[in-house]
Amino acid sequence: MKVNKVVFPVAGLGSRFLPATKSIPKEMLPIIDKPLIQYAVDEAIDAGFSELIFITGNTKKAIQDHFKFNPDLNISNLTEDKKNFLSEMHRVIPSHVSCKYIIQDEPLGLGHAILQAKEAIGEDPFAVVLADDLIDSKQGVLKQMLDHYNDENSSIISVQKIMKSESINYGIIEFKEVNKDLMKIINIVEKPSPENAPSNYGVVGRYIFSSMIFSMLDKVSAGVGNEIQLTDAIKLLLKTNPIYSYKFSGTRHDCGTKIGFIKANIAFALNNPNYSDELKIYIKNLL
Ligand code: UTP
Repeated sequence: MKVNKVVFPVAGLGSRFLPATKSIPKEMLPIIDKPLIQYAVDEAIDAGFSELIFITGNTKKAIQDHFKFNPDLNISNLTEDKKNFLSEMHRVIPSHVSCKYIIQDEPLGLGHAILQAKEAIGEDPFAVVLADDLIDSKQGVLKQMLDHYNDENSSIISVQKIMKSESINYGIIEFKEVNKDLMKIINIVEKPSPENAPSNYGVVGRYIFSSMIFSMLDKVSAGVGNEIQLTDAIKLLLKTNPIYSYKFSGTRHDCGTKIGFIKANIAFALNNPNYSDELKIYIKNLL
């Protein structure tokens, strides 16, 4: 089953990162030198997706600009040492991949953001990636999920084991085990208290949905946080279609929080031979 389209919702307020996110989406914040959204886009392209759909905010054009050719980065006005970076800068989107930008007029929630892609998606199954969930893995998580996806009427959601005390930050699933990687979802609860959490598996920002999710998003009204919640639409979809959860392999960094973002930068730098030795000495001295 070929899934070509992938939606990147990037229209959130990013209020936990203000003032940095006043005029740029948090998905443009860099881990070392690459914005979060580019890690997500690279993961999608590596998995074979060829139609990228970005749901952006009215006033935030930075993502669109990031994936466009920049004439100011012209070879003639760059010094010799900077020319080495040029191919990397212009490499961003290969020619067989298309990008579409759709405006979400108001940040009414993740569910509402995805609903804006309804026409662009049509009847096809599609993926959703939340770029602030940065996942460091040998094989990209979208590719891992596609390997387990074989029925266009079903959906797959990635999950990870969390501490029960953190359940208030996640959609938490109730499930029946299918095999060591897959579970069939029975119920899902948005941000429950630890006492009410049905398990210690929380949803992480990678999904493959049947287009039926749009009918469900159309039906749900504002839920937790007064936002149109994706979790509520998933709950409705469960009544008619099977939804599986996938335990991905990899390390996930929650770059929607400041501490997660700081840890991600440190972890990526420690893994990078250009910085690791100097950084280790620096951290050791600091401590
Ligand atoms: P988050 O809740 O993590 O992002 O949404 P946020 O609302 O921007 O962050 P805070 O809580 O104010 O700090 C998860 C994803 O959904 C997108 C966000 O951009 C993020 O990628 N989103 C959220 C939208 O595109 N539109 C929305 O209305 C809400």
